[in-house]
Amino acid sequence: MANTAELTVDGKSYSFPTLEGTEHEKAFDISNLRDQTGYVTLDRGYKNTGATKSAITFLDGELGILQYRGYSIEDLAAKASFLEVAYLLIYGELPTKEEFNTFETAIRRHTLVNEDMRKIFDGFPVNAHPMGVLSSLVSAMSAFYPDLQGGSDEDKTDLHIIRLLAKIPTIATWSYKRSLGHPMNYPKNQLDYIPNFLNMMFSLPVEDYKVDPVVAEALNVLLILHADHEQNCSTSTVRLVGSSQANIYSSISAGISALWGPLHGGANQEVIEMLEDIKADGGDVSKYVEMAKNAKTTGFRLFGFGHRVYKNFDPRAKIIKKAADDVLSKLGVNDPVLEIAKGLEEAALHDDYFVSRKLYPNVDFYSGIIYRALGIPTNMFTVLFAIGRLPGWIAQWKEMREQKEPIGRPRQIYTGATLREFKPLDQR
Ligand code: SDX
Repeated sequence: MANTAELTVDGKSYSFPTLEGTEHEKAFDISNLRDQTGYVTLDRGYKNTGATKSAITFLDGELGILQYRGYSIEDLAAKASFLEVAYLLIYGELPTKEEFNTFETAIRRHTLVNEDMRKIFDGFPVNAHPMGVLSSLVSAMSAFYPDLQGGSDEDKTDLHIIRLLAKIPTIATWSYKRSLGHPMNYPKNQLDYIPNFLNMMFSLPVEDYKVDPVVAEALNVLLILHADHEQNCSTSTVRLVGSSQANIYSSISAGISALWGPLHGGANQEVIEMLEDIKADGGDVSKYVEMAKNAKTTGFRLFGFGHRVYKNFDPRAKIIKKAADDVLSKLGVNDPVLEIAKGLEEAALHDDYFVSRKLYPNVDFYSGIIYRALGIPTNMFTVLFAIGRLPGWIAQWKEMREQKEPIGRPRQIYTGATLREFKPLDQR
């Protein structure tokens, strides 16, 4: 028997159906709430509000569980390639060898960016933040790839998906190379996805560049860990923009902009800058823990800590923390901020302010330490997050379209002035 939730308001009782997902998450279906009761709900930041049903990613914040299409993040990070995970998120199943070869070959053949897009680069100051450049260039892709003539919607969408996955690493590296005054590198079709990205990032015409397999493997894990995270801020942005029938490039561009915020994907850059400040200030982590506890007066926040959903360890942070030790020792890198990060974690997790608020390290707390060891500059950290999150944004946008979700349009509670008469200027 379908369950119902009873609501009594203004002396009247109402019933609303409840539903339960495959992982036993429960919801009240309030699709008819306003029609039935005249009330809307208020839920700032959507902390208690489900925006959709989705079959892509499941996470359990209390238990620290994360699964993409039913596969554990631990399994995928240890055994899969990033493009396999991209295919899994977007098409719902791990690809067969044939499906993977077709997918990977299509991506290889679309890595070139229209030369006219390089002219857009020239309009940016060389010190422009690469997230702003990336968001602008991805939006510009809608001008270069308007709706394909003919072909079914699936063919159109599949080609746009390939173009995004293929060209975003190229665009990302170009903003970095331009900021250094180095020549922008072209993709090489003989290289795999991640080595191609590393080659475009670091190779110079004056010497051969050899991809370090340790670096490539570390990046493979990091991109997988960032690939999707159900209805987070930037993914919800992609879905909301796409719900108006805006094209996929504009939707993804909006997601990149949302991710840039320091409370979201921009936190990985903030974490390293915070750790560097603590190092420069003598490395006294307890001083910064106290500052974070008095955030209302100090305005200081411990970046990389806390999460809207995880009230336990972020499973990605656990994997990244272990990988940080492993990668840095393999690369022979001794980065003092890693020890500061561990000290900060230790101090915070033994302090009631953090324990009572269930504030644990999140995905951004250790990721920057590995990116830095790989030679990635700090202002490119969030770009790496975007490259990782791209398949998730695409998968969620595609699911939203296939489910024919209605245009997103939340309600509000108005608290402004009630009706009043206009007074001409000379009477004010
Ligand atoms: C990502 O949603 C996702 O899935 C995102 C993400 C993904 O993969 O897409 O996981 C990626 O964005 C990770 C989060 C990266 N952001 C940061 O590291 C920034 C620092 N963290 C916070 O700003 C905060 O924890 C949020 C934004 C992540 C979550 O904010 P919430 O859920 O709105 O929680 P809140 O701000 O209401 O905090 C609750 C309490 C407050 O104290 P009180 O008002 O109860 O006294 O905890 C405190 C906050 O002041 N608090 C912190 C803190 N985070 C929360 N205090 C000190 N340092 C922090 N980092």
